[in-house]
Amino acid sequence: MNDPVRQLYSERRYPALSHPVTDISRLAVSARVAGMQRLAMPVACRVLEFGCASGHNLLPLAARYPKSEFTGIDYSDTAIRAARQAAYAAGLENIRFEVADLEHWRPSHPCDYLIAHGVLSWVPDAVKARLMDLCAQVLSDSGVACISYNTLPGWSLRRDVVPLVRALAGNPAAAGLGGSVEAVAAALAEMAGSGTPHALNLRAICGDIARKGAAVLPFDDFAPVCDPLYFAQFADWAGQRGLRYLGEARLQDNLPEGLDPASWEKLAPLAADPVLFQQTIDLLSGRTHRNSLLCRQEAPLEEGTTTAVVLHFAAGRGEVALPEAPGETAVVKVFRRVMAEAGSDCLPVSELMERTAEKLGAGWEPTRHSQELAGWIFQAARFGGVELRSEALVIPRGGPEKPRISALNRHFSENGYPIVDPRHITCHFPAGHEQLLAAMDGTRPAAELAGWAARDFPELDFPRWLAHLAERGILVWGNEAAESFISD
Ligand SMILES: C[S@@+](CC[C@H](N)C(=O)[O-])C[C@H]1O[C@@H](n2cnc3c(N)ncnc32)[C@H](O)[C@@H]1O
Repeated sequence: MNDPVRQLYSERRYPALSHPVTDISRLAVSARVAGMQRLAMPVACRVLEFGCASGHNLLPLAARYPKSEFTGIDYSDTAIRAARQAAYAAGLENIRFEVADLEHWRPSHPCDYLIAHGVLSWVPDAVKARLMDLCAQVLSDSGVACISYNTLPGWSLRRDVVPLVRALAGNPAAAGLGGSVEAVAAALAEMAGSGTPHALNLRAICGDIARKGAAVLPFDDFAPVCDPLYFAQFADWAGQRGLRYLGEARLQDNLPEGLDPASWEKLAPLAADPVLFQQTIDLLSGRTHRNSLLCRQEAPLEEGTTTAVVLHFAAGRGEVALPEAPGETAVVKVFRRVMAEAGSDCLPVSELMERTAEKLGAGWEPTRHSQELAGWIFQAARFGGVELRSEALVIPRGGPEKPRISALNRHFSENGYPIVDPRHITCHFPAGHEQLLAAMDGTRPAAELAGWAARDFPELDFPRWLAHLAERGILVWGNEAAESFISD
C-alpha cells in the first residue's frame, strides 16, 4: 500500500469521538444567523458525513432526529462495520454507512448538512480537491457544509515542533525525555519555562500535544499528512467551486477569543473584505483550527436579521460565564435569573421571554423588551455565554428508579466506546465504568447497581455519578422515543 494515510487507517483504529461543533442543532443556528434563509431544520433534513470513521459522530445525531436521514462515508471497512453494528443494535433505521474512497465516490442525492471533520488537512492533495468538489456537487440549494482544517499562521510553530518531537522520541540519546511523542512533548513543555513569549508559546503547544495523548496523536499532529491552510487558500478553493464562506460553525469562533471591544470596533470596517478580515483574525488570535461553514454561492442570504432570528431558537447556559456588564438593564438582569433557573435546559427563546415577562409584570413592554433581549442573547451567544440550538433540550430532573441509558449508549458501553450526551459531547469515564453503564437497561434498581459499584469500583461515589449522569441528560425515562428530550 503506497498511500500512508490509507495504511494508517487500515492498521489502527481511530478513536470513537463525537464533535459538538458539528451538532446540526448548532450548525443550523450559525447558518441561519449568517443569513441562510431557506435552511432545512435538523428535525427533517438529510445529513452526510465524509470520513465518518465508526460513526460515533453521526449515530447520536441519527438517534436524536429520527425523521432525518443520515449517511456516513469512510474507506475503512472495519470502521464502517462497527458503525453498522451500532446502528443495528440501537434500532436506527434512518442511517446508512458506505465503505467508499472519497476519490471515487459519487453522490446519489443532495444533502442539507455536510460534515467533514478531521479530513481536509489530513488527506493527500488529490483527496482535498475531491472533497471540495464533492461539497459543491452534493450540497442542496440551501445546504450547509461544515469543514474542519488546521490553520496558518497559528499552526506554523507547531509545524516545526512536531518533526523535532518525533526525532527526539525515536532517538536513544534522548531516552531521558520519556520515549513516546507525548512524553517528549510533556518534557519539552516543562523545560521551556515561561520566561519569554516564545517559551510560553512553546509550552502551550507542547502541553497541548501531550494532552491529546497517544490515542489521537497518530491521526492528528503526527499523522502522515497534516497540512495547515491559510484561510485565504480555503476561501479560494471554495470560491473556485461556486461555494461561499458563511462563518464559523461555533458562533463564538467568529470573534477571536480575548479581542477587546475597542479592537473589534477598529476591525469591523474590514468586514467588507471578508478574506482579509478573516486572515487578520487568524493572525490576531493565533488560532490553529477552524470549523468553517460553506453554502452555495447562489444561496439567498438575508442581511441584518440576526436579532429577529434568535426568536426562532432555544437558548441555554453557554460555555463561559458572562460577567454582569455595567449598566445592564433591569430586563436583562431578570432574564439572566430566568436562564439560571432553567439550569442545564435549553428552552425556546419565546418561552424564556414569557417567563421574564411574568416576573416583570406590568413593567414588561413586549415590543421594546423582546427586541432588547433578543439583541442581548445574540451578543451573549457570540461570546459563548449563551448556547443557541435549533430546538429545545429539556433534561428531566431527578433520576429514574431503575436507571436506563439509550440503546445506542448501551451499545457503546458494551463495546468499550465512550458514550455521548444529548449535547453531543463525548463522555470519558474511568475504565471499567462502562460495565455499569451497560447494565443501565432499566431492569435494575439503582440500589442494586450501587451495590455492584461498591464491590467492583470502591473508589466510585455512585450516587454522585448517577446524579451527574442525570444532570447531563444521559439517563432516559419511559420509552426509547423519549430519550432524545427534544421538542420540535
Ligand atoms: C482523522 S479521522 C477523522 C474521523 C472523524 N471524522 C473525526 O473527526 O473524529 C479521518 C477519517 O477519514 C477517513 N478517510 C481518510 N481518507 C479517506 C478517503 N479518501 N475516503 C474515505 N475516507 C477517508 C479515515 O478512514 C478516517 O476514518
